[in-house]
Amino acid sequence: MYKFVMPEVIFGSGSIQQAGESCARLGAKRALIVTDEGVIQAGWSELVEKSCRQAGLSSFVFSNVSVNPKDEEAEACARIYLENECDALIGVGGGSAIDTAKAAAILATNGGHIRDYEGVDRIFSPLPPLVMVSTTAGSGSEVSQFSVIVDTAQRKKMTIVSKSLVPDIAIVDPDVLATKSQHLTASTGLDVLTHAIESFVSIASTPLTDVHAKNALALSSRYLRPSVASKHNKEAKEQMAMASLHAGLAFSNAILGAVHAMAHAIGGRYPFLHGDINAVLLPHVMEFNLLASPDKFKEIALLMGEDVQSLPPAAAGEKAIDFVRRLSIDIGAPLTLAEMGFEGSAIPEISEMALSDACMITNPRDITAEEAAALLRKAL
Ligand SMILES: [Fe+2]
Repeated sequence: MYKFVMPEVIFGSGSIQQAGESCARLGAKRALIVTDEGVIQAGWSELVEKSCRQAGLSSFVFSNVSVNPKDEEAEACARIYLENECDALIGVGGGSAIDTAKAAAILATNGGHIRDYEGVDRIFSPLPPLVMVSTTAGSGSEVSQFSVIVDTAQRKKMTIVSKSLVPDIAIVDPDVLATKSQHLTASTGLDVLTHAIESFVSIASTPLTDVHAKNALALSSRYLRPSVASKHNKEAKEQMAMASLHAGLAFSNAILGAVHAMAHAIGGRYPFLHGDINAVLLPHVMEFNLLASPDKFKEIALLMGEDVQSLPPAAAGEKAIDFVRRLSIDIGAPLTLAEMGFEGSAIPEISEMALSDACMITNPRDITAEEAAALLRKAL
């Protein structure tokens, strides 16, 4: 038996203008728009405000969101929501804004501290209507049942998983991707590839999630390079937006693995881009996991377009790992943790922390703290 959850999805050029009407359809009158300064500068938040006005909704804006969103930001966001008597949330941004909107929705209706909801299925009161507008082809948070928030007291990322966090409506507008920097395009694109690979080899994968993981793999393998190469390549932007959507649907339901567990532990301590951390860890974790599911790694290589039909599964899997390394080099992603500013002295603590992350449960190969530490040393 398995379940598959997903929101209503509105995909396509100009779809960001549907945000207000989507919120009105859910019965809302006063929406809190949760976004960040970069999205405001690019003009996307204003478009959403305009769509709210056109749909007859009052709207308020909260934009104090960091790259790795914090518990105190979610608390401040929930306060603004309650003070203005809002009745819906619209997240406009990448994973940071969307995850903050989700966390604020939990606090506004369930109370307590966001730490109380860490783990799986710990939200018991219904959340307000959630409309999420993704502005990066990356996080997948607009369709997922995840919110990842930094616990500032313990300096670690908490993974909150609950079907209550699946947004009501997800809006994916590829036009929005044209304002992203080359670095952000590369970083979020490698997050998409990581979602696709980790959800495909996850022990919780199902035929329904595999369909989406495979599509995400094939599309991101083909279109990430051209999407990084040019802001104006509309086809590449659209296909990466679709890849991100597929990857989000796959990992929301199949969960992830050791790359994300370790990336969450590192992201709680360092202000690195989530996609950059994943990019460095991914080939090392793939090498470690190859033993657990060589047949799936051969399929990954085939979906990447590698000529591996005649190779045994493990050798084909090595080609998939080579593909990831070449892709990272080509698009200028970081190749080591040290070059981002990570210190080797943090490895024992980070590896311990990673073991307790919800994403580690579905990694296809059992992993000890010593093995996680060895992987981090290789990635250093
Ligand atoms: Fe991710």
